[in-house]
Amino acid sequence: MKLLLAPMEGLTDPIMREVLTHVGDFDWCVTEFIRVTDSLLPEHVYDTYCPELKTGGKTAAGTPVHVQFLGNNPDMLAANAVRAVELGAPAIDLNFGCPAKTVNRHRGGSVLLDEPDVVHMLVKAVRDAVPHHVPVSAKMRLGYMDRHFMLDNAHAIEDAGASWVTVHARTKADGYTPPAFWDQLAPIREALKINVIANGEIWNNQDAKQCLLESGCQDLMLGRGAVTTPDLTLCIRQNTDTALLKWQDLLGLQIRFLNGKFKKEMNMVGRYKQWLGMMSKHYPEAKLLWDQVKRIKEVQPMIEQLHIQAQNFEVK
Ligand SMILES: Cc1cc2nc3c(=O)[nH]c(=O)nc-3n(C[C@H](O)[C@H](O)[C@H](O)COP(=O)(O)O)c2cc1C
Repeated sequence: MKLLLAPMEGLTDPIMREVLTHVGDFDWCVTEFIRVTDSLLPEHVYDTYCPELKTGGKTAAGTPVHVQFLGNNPDMLAANAVRAVELGAPAIDLNFGCPAKTVNRHRGGSVLLDEPDVVHMLVKAVRDAVPHHVPVSAKMRLGYMDRHFMLDNAHAIEDAGASWVTVHARTKADGYTPPAFWDQLAPIREALKINVIANGEIWNNQDAKQCLLESGCQDLMLGRGAVTTPDLTLCIRQNTDTALLKWQDLLGLQIRFLNGKFKKEMNMVGRYKQWLGMMSKHYPEAKLLWDQVKRIKEVQPMIEQLHIQAQNFEVK
């Protein structure tokens, strides 16, 4: 079974990828989407979105990082994909799932699922341009406002030469509201020869098992669940519902995150609080910690507070 870390803009950025692949067991991750309009992107854009290109296209833990593009210009998507591969991307993924209004208004992301021919054209343009040994994949939802073109899009992606397709088991109209319709992945899987990777609402080992059962898929992409519960891949692989990482272990991971060396200018404390808020859903300790650190605005005092927490655990 392959387990993959989902692309999530503003969430699974290089620092989060580095810490999650440090503790988790992912086969690969995917960058946040890189938007392509009408130009070849300068190298600093790649440095920002995928600094792992400088280290063989892998995180420090050795997990490959696929580069994801979003756009509707076939020539420019192809040119940028070639560039990313020249810079060291091990694989290219194309985004047909983004529900954001601004993105959709500019004919990017999930809105293209109403135009399977365009989906085909874009995937083919990238596939034809990128060296044969480099996989090109696509990530789609079940549809835009409904599932009418679900199978057409899946076929369009396969016929264009994609190596696999990842399907978030909801339409754009479904947004992120549960449930995810895992059973709807079964007809896609049955219709295609290429691998179909299941995605959506997998928060624990039980969800993973249920998704595999209902979809018949073999591989899973994990999004928010992997951020909320950093040992999710380990639990799924060991088929256990018992947490495998203790809160103490996770405190070390949080310090590692705050010490993250990428994108120095970014608001690390804000990013950290976002993560802590997500972990509060799963770990009671995160909720308690939140109350203690919510007023801290600088990185160093935050790290010190986490060290104090870690020491308290050792004393206990
Ligand atoms: C904050 C956020 C940002 C996202 N950004 C992207 C993105 O850049 N590219 C993409 O293909 N999907 C993106 N997604 C969708 C996720 O990859 C995934 O399909 C979705 O969250 C469902 O999986 P989950 O229920 O396991 O989180 C994003 C989702 C979230 C919550």
